[in-house]
Amino acid sequence: MADEQQYDYDVLVIGAGPGGYVAAIRAAQLGLKTACAESRETLGGTCLNVGCIPSKAMLHASEYFDAAANGAMAKMGIKVTPELDLEAMHGQRRDAVKQLTGGIEFLFKKNKVEWLKGRASFTGKDSVDVAGRTVRAKNIVIATGSSVTPLPGVTIDQKVVVDSTGALELPKVPEHMVVIGGGVIGLELGSVWRRLGAKVTVVEFLDQILPGFDGDVRKESNKIFKKQGLEFKLSTKVTGVAVNGDVATLTLEPAAGGEAQTIDADAVLVSIGRKPNTDGLNLEAAGVALNGRGQVEIDHDFRTNVSGVWAIGDVAPGLMLAHKAEDEGIAVAENIAGQHGIVNHDVIPSVVYTWPEIAGVGLTEEAAKAKGEVEVGKFPMLANSRAKTNHEPDGFVKIIADAKTDRVLGVWAIASVAGTMIAQAAQAMEFGATSEDIAYTCHAHPTHSEAIKEAAMAVTGKPIHI
Ligand code: FAD
Ligand code: NAI
Repeated sequence: MADEQQYDYDVLVIGAGPGGYVAAIRAAQLGLKTACAESRETLGGTCLNVGCIPSKAMLHASEYFDAAANGAMAKMGIKVTPELDLEAMHGQRRDAVKQLTGGIEFLFKKNKVEWLKGRASFTGKDSVDVAGRTVRAKNIVIATGSSVTPLPGVTIDQKVVVDSTGALELPKVPEHMVVIGGGVIGLELGSVWRRLGAKVTVVEFLDQILPGFDGDVRKESNKIFKKQGLEFKLSTKVTGVAVNGDVATLTLEPAAGGEAQTIDADAVLVSIGRKPNTDGLNLEAAGVALNGRGQVEIDHDFRTNVSGVWAIGDVAPGLMLAHKAEDEGIAVAENIAGQHGIVNHDVIPSVVYTWPEIAGVGLTEEAAKAKGEVEVGKFPMLANSRAKTNHEPDGFVKIIADAKTDRVLGVWAIASVAGTMIAQAAQAMEFGATSEDIAYTCHAHPTHSEAIKEAAMAVTGKPIHI
C-alpha cells in the first residue's frame, strides 16, 4: 500500500452522471482533493445527455402539441390547429441538455473538482489509467452507470431500429413505431411519438405493462394509454427484426409459445431494460467482485469487496434512477470523509412522466400483503376538484398502510402531477407517518394533493368527497 503522499487524489470518481458528479462535488465540499474521470464530451452522464432531461424536454413539448391537436385546449375555449416544427422541438431539447451539462462543468470548477477527460480503467486497487495517464487515489468510486440491454439478434442501427438515444432524435415522425418493452422508456418515448402523430404499438413480454409498479396502477394506466391510442400486444415476445430499406418487419410470438405473426414498422424502439457498465473497467486488476446480475456488489455503506473502492448508481444494485444515484453520491462521499452517509432504499420514489404521470413510493399492495395485513385507501382524481376543473379526470391515489400500526407502507398515484405529488408521500414515509398523520395534515385547496389526504382518510373509511 502506497503512503499518503503518493496519492494524486483523496477521491477519484469514475463517471460523471448524477451519481458520480454529485459524489465528486460533495467530496470536494468536504475538503477532499477530488477528480472525476468522464469519457463523454460533456458531464452529466446518461441522465443529462440522453436520459431524464432530453426525454422530459420532448415529453413536455409534445404534451403541448397533443393538447392543441386532441381537443384538450378546445375544451377550454382555445381553438388552434397546431403545426409541428420538429427541428425547433429538437432544438429546445438540445438547448436544455447544453445548458444543464454546462452547469455541471461550472459546478466542478466552483468546487475545485478536476475533470479527467477520458475512459478510466483500473491498473491496481488504488490506481487507474485515464487516457494514458496513471492516476492514484486513496478512494475510488465506481459510478459508471448503465447502458441499453441489447435484444439478441436485433441490430440497433439508430435509423430504423433505435434505442432510447436514437428515439429522442428521430428526424421525422414515424408512421408506425413499434416499441419493444412496455416499461418506463417505452411508455415515455412511445407517448412522445404518438402525440406527434405516429401510430404506436407496444409489444410487452409480460401480461401487463410497467413491471415493479402496483398492480392497480399497471392495469389502470394500461387502460388510459389505450384510450389515448397506444396499441398493446401483451404476453408477446419479439423473436426477430428484419430491416429492408426503411421498413422493419418484426416477428412476434405469444410468450407462452404458439403461432408467430409479423408486423411492419418504419421505426422500432428497443427498450427492454438497461445493464450495468463494467466493460473495459478492468475490474480484475483491482479484484472488484460483481454479483450474478453483473452489478458491482456493495455493502450498506457502498463499499465493494476491495478496501478503498466504492460503487454507486446504476452500476450497483437497486433501482436505476437518477435521484437514487444522486443520494448515493452524497452518502458515499460522506462515508469516505468518515461521516455517516445513509440512503433509505425503502423510500425511493419512481415516476413515469407520461400523461397523466404515474408515481409510486414504497411497497406495492401485492408486496405489502405478502408481508402482512394491510388497509388500503383509494381516492379517484375524478372526485378531486382541481383535477376535475382542469379536465384531468383520469387516475387515482392509493395508500397502503399496515393494518395494526397504520404506518404508511406505500403510496401510488396516477394524476397529471403525480410526480410532484409523490414527494409529500416520500417525506411522510421517511418520517414514519401513519395514514392518520396524512389525513390530519392540512392540504391547500384546490390542489391535486388533496387526493392524497382523501386517500389517507379512506384508509380508515372516512373520505369526504366520495
Ligand atoms: P450514468 O448517468 O449512466 O453516468 C455514468 C457516466 O459514466 C456516463 O457519462 C459514462 O460516459 C461514464 N463512464 C462509464 N464508464 C466510464 C469509464 N470507464 N471511464 C470514464 N467514464 C465512464 N431516471 C430518473 O430518475 N428520472 C428520469 O426521468 C429518467 N429518465 C430516463 C430516460 C432515459 C431515456 C434513460 C435512458 C434513463 C432515464 N433515467 C431516469 C435513468 C437515469 O438516467 C439513470 O438512473 C442515471 O443516469 C444513473 O446515474 P449514474 O450516475 O449511475 O450513471
Ligand atoms: P424497464 O425495465 O422499465 O422495462 C423493460 C420492459 O421490457 C419490461 O416490461 C420487460 O418485461 C420488457 N421486455 C423485456 N424483454 C422483452 C422482450 N424480449 N420483448 C418484449 N418485452 C420485453 O426498462 P426500460 O424501459 O428500458 O428502462 C430502463 C430503466 O431506465 C428503467 O428501469 C428506469 O430505471 C430507467 N428510466 C427511468 C425513467 C423515469 O424515472 N421516468 C425514464 C426512463 C428510464
